[in-house]
Amino acid sequence: MENFKEKVIIALDYDNLDAARGILERLKGEAYFYKIGPVLFTSCGIQSIELVRDYGCKIFLDLKFHDIPNTVYRAVKSAGELGVDIINVHASGGAEMMKSAKKGGVEAAKRAGKSIDVIAVTILTSLAQEDLRDIFYYPRDEINSSGLKPYSGVFGGVGNLVLHLAELAKISGLDGIVCSGYESLEIKKVLGDNFKTIVPGIRLAGGGYAAEVQRDAGAAITPKGENIKGAAWIDDQKRVMTPSMAFNSKADYIVVGREITASNDPLTALKAIYNDIERFAERT
Ligand code: C5P
Repeated sequence: MENFKEKVIIALDYDNLDAARGILERLKGEAYFYKIGPVLFTSCGIQSIELVRDYGCKIFLDLKFHDIPNTVYRAVKSAGELGVDIINVHASGGAEMMKSAKKGGVEAAKRAGKSIDVIAVTILTSLAQEDLRDIFYYPRDEINSSGLKPYSGVFGGVGNLVLHLAELAKISGLDGIVCSGYESLEIKKVLGDNFKTIVPGIRLAGGGYAAEVQRDAGAAITPKGENIKGAAWIDDQKRVMTPSMAFNSKADYIVVGREITASNDPLTALKAIYNDIERFAERT
């Protein structure tokens, strides 16, 4: 894979600038793209953006806006004017909200003199089929009394719902979506390679942050993805995948957090991610 290091986005999920600076310093020259989410942004605000920019790296501002169209338009416009490269909103906010988000992104990009991708979050990678039933489907006893099978809701399954939201995002003019590696390939097939997929929920096979949890649960993820079903044993993420598998599923970017930030040695952890990509990702 060419230039894969620029496609690895590191989540700066810290509540203070010193910790974020520590990672930026440690990974200098090896990492090029960082994600600032609600933890860092609500703790440190615009300073966190300035900090990452000082290191010459790109920024994904992951604030996942979900509000009425006018509010989202203004929020995305303000965020874009801060000079970030990717901004996201929740696809479940609907088509009008996403169109407004894109409008804000386009106007901000014009002022900032650079391109800004406006991306939709589909279904969080911490949610699995069962969670969706709890959120969107009928109450459990209603399912039982009506004789409906579990998971027989409107959309059928996570994959279908992600695809549906991705299509809605595309027709609303957005540049791509956040999804798990399990949905990325199908989305590319249906919506085309230019519609970007950003894949969080990245875990290394048999090593790294989640290794101990995996061993305790007697489960494993192989680079080919065997035994990955029912991966609820991995912290709060459920639809997880290795870095190379995600790229083999045509992800444009992967988002990596705790594999790096919870490690005692973030640089070695990042290199393990790179190594997995170099060894197992198909050359494109
Ligand atoms: O530590 P971990 O690698 O699980 O972190 C993943 C990061 O990606 C977190 O910052 C999380 O907020 C973010 N994210 C996610 N799932 C989404 C969108 C963003 O995990 N659908």
